[in-house]
Amino acid sequence: MKLTPTEQSMLAGAQGKAVRKSMEILVALGTIYGADRMTPVTSVQVSGVSYDNLGEAGLQFLAELAEGGGRVKVLTTLNPAGMDVENWKVMGIDPEFAEQQERIIRAYTSMGIMPTCSCTPYLFGNVPHFGEHIAWAESSAVCYANSILGARSNREGGPSALAAALTGRTPRYGLHLETNRRPSLTVRVISRLEGTRDFGALGAAIGRLMEARKLKPIPLLRGIKHASTDELKSFCASIATYGGLALFHMEGITPECGNFQTPEETIAITRDILEESIDQLSESDPGEEVDFISLGCPHLSLGEIGRAAEILKDKKVKKTLWITTARPTKRMAEQMGYTAIIERAGGIFAADTCCVVAPIKGFFKVIATDSAKACYYASSKHGASTRFLTFEEALEEALK
Ligand code: F3S
Repeated sequence: MKLTPTEQSMLAGAQGKAVRKSMEILVALGTIYGADRMTPVTSVQVSGVSYDNLGEAGLQFLAELAEGGGRVKVLTTLNPAGMDVENWKVMGIDPEFAEQQERIIRAYTSMGIMPTCSCTPYLFGNVPHFGEHIAWAESSAVCYANSILGARSNREGGPSALAAALTGRTPRYGLHLETNRRPSLTVRVISRLEGTRDFGALGAAIGRLMEARKLKPIPLLRGIKHASTDELKSFCASIATYGGLALFHMEGITPECGNFQTPEETIAITRDILEESIDQLSESDPGEEVDFISLGCPHLSLGEIGRAAEILKDKKVKKTLWITTARPTKRMAEQMGYTAIIERAGGIFAADTCCVVAPIKGFFKVIATDSAKACYYASSKHGASTRFLTFEEALEEALK
């Protein structure tokens, strides 16, 4: 890799141990993937925050970077933690876990990273524009940044995203290059789509089809008449989870869609395929009782919280209901009076975290959710059964 004189001096340690270590990580990565040089980045989203995933070794790695003088050079936000940092006791989090989690967040903030603790940075302030080079971790957010905003990011891991934040650079390969962003398969969607569940089911159906192919193609989706931001975030999380995709093109949505020719090879997704996908995501037997409802994967937007408040107004939930969202979104929901309505109904706000990264294995047997991604992890990580419902149906389930 060809490094600039500044990058060479970073690698030689002129800017301290943390920058040197970061540069070593980036050079190693760039060498593996055949990058010719680094590209400057303007925005980073760092993952690897929950103590449940990071553990002691991860915490040590962070502490070393922080003590080595690490300081971010660009706007950097943080993925969800393993608990609501203000309300962890209500979530039943072990105090020992809470202490370690707080140490992790302190290490990040000491490096200048904003403790947003959310997977939806694009909803509140970390919003890169078309063509901007960024280094994001968190698969759903990467997919959103590439496909909806038109920014350019590879699917970073926690360490490489952090290294990009501390140096302001990332190796130039993969989705930073125009030629690697070309779609090679057209997906015609022949179905009306409505709500986050339909879009999650669509992402899972397409994702599984892409995953089954040897050379995972970048799809160009045609036929989707309308998609809200909430529906798109659901779709991004799902297609990234089930297909490992970091980029798709959607006609009328993806800014660079018109730059490429429509691929000849075409597959169709019909309503029957979508219904099959919905069925597959509901793994629970009809007789099994739902004991946990979680909404907010990816984190709920203010509009979604408002809809939940409308449904729950003057009612009482009879099952555990989690509303997972970002703290900035929760603050706004408080101002709007939504939080009070939901909490009066018995719902629990789990800000800063989610049902996947919180240490809640064994906490529930059957989860109801509108999130295809949450279904995937509830089953694979927590060993629970799933009921894949619409947003409204999931709230109704909480009231039964
Ligand atoms: Fe976000 Fe957690 Fe889902 S990080 S995308 S809410 S698994």
